[in-house]
Amino acid sequence: MIHADRNDRLLRWYEESQRDLPWRRSSDPYEVLVSEVMLQQTQVERVIPKFEHFMGTWSTVEALASAETDDLLRAWSGLGYNTRAIRLRESGRMIVANGWPDTLAGLKMLPGVGPYTASAIGSIAFGMEVPATDTNVRRILSRWAGEPLIGRSLDAYASECLGSPAGDWNQSLMDLGSTICSPSQPKCSLCPVASWCADPSVYEPPPKQTRFEGSHRQLRGALLRAHLAGKDLTSAGQGLGRSLEETTTAIDALKDEGLI
Ligand code: ADE
Repeated sequence: MIHADRNDRLLRWYEESQRDLPWRRSSDPYEVLVSEVMLQQTQVERVIPKFEHFMGTWSTVEALASAETDDLLRAWSGLGYNTRAIRLRESGRMIVANGWPDTLAGLKMLPGVGPYTASAIGSIAFGMEVPATDTNVRRILSRWAGEPLIGRSLDAYASECLGSPAGDWNQSLMDLGSTICSPSQPKCSLCPVASWCADPSVYEPPPKQTRFEGSHRQLRGALLRAHLAGKDLTSAGQGLGRSLEETTTAIDALKDEGLI
């Protein structure tokens, strides 16, 4: 059975070579939730110190539920996409009120937790046997299959390949994708499962990152920093060369979202 042999090899490789990451030292659901939300749009290296600081400040879900907005956003600074912090606190409040969801559907109902994050939390913290397929995992599975997989074909193939425990299997693919099975120059000579791979050349370039300079996101970041530093917001916007109208619209949006 090809999947079983490949999974044995993969899980053994993970056990021996996994990256030493602070959120892997326990499978506490709260730590897994915080790390997975941080990792949604931010790279591992950048997340590590922020995660350690965050857990040092709010070490329980109860503490997070009563965190002050400004403290939370200061702790989040450098991670980007700040509404994630507000949604994370909202998730914390729901968990304090109702307990942890015990199904995948329940996890997906937490604010800021989409299908991928729900599967990552479910498998790592609760032992649910579900695959978590982000773009890196999609690339690996496409190479194993020998064709680009997307949508339902990706879900079906991921479920077929899934090894157990799924939390380790998912994280082994995350490590494989970031250390060996990279997008343009996969290091197949180092890959523990190369002999079960149909076509390492299968590759779809990721969508181009939009420019940060001049973007709405840049303006929002600058306004939020000015707010946290007690500075004037309108001048911060104009310091970036933005019109008063664009600046005012962005300030209103930050207010609506509860960030300032
Ligand atoms: N990216 C998303 N989740 C991750 C995890 N648990 N470990 C490493 N990288 C990740």
